[in-house]
Amino acid sequence: MAKEAAAAKAASNEYVTLTDHSTGESYDMPLMPGSVGPKVIDVRPLYSQTGHFTYDPGFTSTGACESKLTYIDGEAGILMHRGYSIEDLAEHSDFMEVCYLLLEGELPTAAEKAEFEDTITHHTMIHEQLQYLYRGFRRDAHPMAIMVGVVGALSAFYHDSTDIADPVQRMIASHRLVAKMPTIAAMAYKFSTGQPFIYPRNDLKYAENFLYMMFAVPCEEYKVDPILARAMDRIFILHADHEQNASTSTVRTAGSSGANPFACIAAGISSLWGPAHGGANEAVLAMLNEIGSPDRVAECVERAKDKDDPFRLMGFGHRVYKNYDPRAKVLQSSAYEVLNSLGVHDDPLLKIAMELERIALEDDYFVERKLFPNVDFYSGIILKAMGFPTSMFTVLFALARTVGWIAQWKEMIEDPSQKITRPRQLYTGPTSREYVPVDKRG
Ligand code: SDX
Repeated sequence: MAKEAAAAKAASNEYVTLTDHSTGESYDMPLMPGSVGPKVIDVRPLYSQTGHFTYDPGFTSTGACESKLTYIDGEAGILMHRGYSIEDLAEHSDFMEVCYLLLEGELPTAAEKAEFEDTITHHTMIHEQLQYLYRGFRRDAHPMAIMVGVVGALSAFYHDSTDIADPVQRMIASHRLVAKMPTIAAMAYKFSTGQPFIYPRNDLKYAENFLYMMFAVPCEEYKVDPILARAMDRIFILHADHEQNASTSTVRTAGSSGANPFACIAAGISSLWGPAHGGANEAVLAMLNEIGSPDRVAECVERAKDKDDPFRLMGFGHRVYKNYDPRAKVLQSSAYEVLNSLGVHDDPLLKIAMELERIALEDDYFVERKLFPNVDFYSGIILKAMGFPTSMFTVLFALARTVGWIAQWKEMIEDPSQKITRPRQLYTGPTSREYVPVDKRG
């Protein structure tokens, strides 16, 4: 530990000095620069030098790792993957190319992309036995509960790709997860409807294949609308990775103990499910339906500001973005495109969302707290128009984020300075006391 910090200090001729006024001691902590963004104060030697811990519940000011995958500038509303802006990737790239970029570090050549897509395509089927796992769930089980169970179960099926010390097996596990999530997700939906599972097809592209598995039935030909396939692919791109968010940090923490990669992704799915995180897209639709009409928006905005009222504007606010979430901007324009292509004009939910955004962005409470629409604010409107039930919204988020989770997991495993995640605490419980036998207790 100390040698790493000493190396960091030697590498960085900048440092901050911490003075402990209770002892008069001062300590120099190295200031480590990234390629862009805030520098970090390397506090690895802090406890050994001072006997003190840092205190940062929720990690609002803590860098938990070094990463080369995704950069966010929350003040400026910037999101980049391996240096490429999310706007450029959403406009010019596709999800398979973004998956390659996150996993390999560079945009693929045409040949590399074709080989990657072929690899993913040939991993889309799941073990035939896994379908029986679905029967253990009630038909009305939330599909995220099914995703946690089935993805966790993959850890029992692929022992040939779970030796995390083998880079080849790490990449096979990554390919398997990216490839199988659409199949598992579509099966969760089909199970809830009582319709038969639809097998993946090797002649379809990733997003098209997913929509086919979701909405085809065995009794007739089903052609995926190319506009919806493109919209689905773009939604996947926008959800692919997002720095050290709660679910990614969960995957990194689970993986830091050397756990099975499939089990680590199941842990990430669990964390994403929460309404403060990926579950917000489902909660936004519930909120818009609860508001019911544009003329009730002002009343709900007041409720969201009332500390005594648990009501919050779902899809608003973000730990990092103190500006408009760039993904929300792309989704807002996508919403119009998809609704128009579906012939849905004057969508009532979109009208409520636009009015909600207009009022909130003019309101001092939201302006002072820099609360803007986030990725979840518009996504649900598009997904509903595409025919997805709200219970599937967070499943789609998990499907897309799997590549980010597993790329972050790979980066953590391949980081030579990687250690098991084991934070400390500020203990405020009872100090040492004698045990009292039950017959002596008051
Ligand atoms: C995602 O981290 C990521 O990158 C996540 C994500 C990703 O791609 O992985 O971007 C995906 O999870 C997006 C966020 C989806 N969640 C929601 O939309 C749920 C609603 N938003 C909030 O619950 C909240 O904004 C969070 C959880 C997103 C962020 O919370 P923080 O950073 O802990 O901020 P906070 O709760 O301390 O809020 C700061 C202030 C508070 O008021 P004060 O105590 O200062 O008076 O802003 C208020 C909050 O009460 N506030 C809101 C609000 N969000 C924050 N008030 C009303 N409505 C809201 N939505």
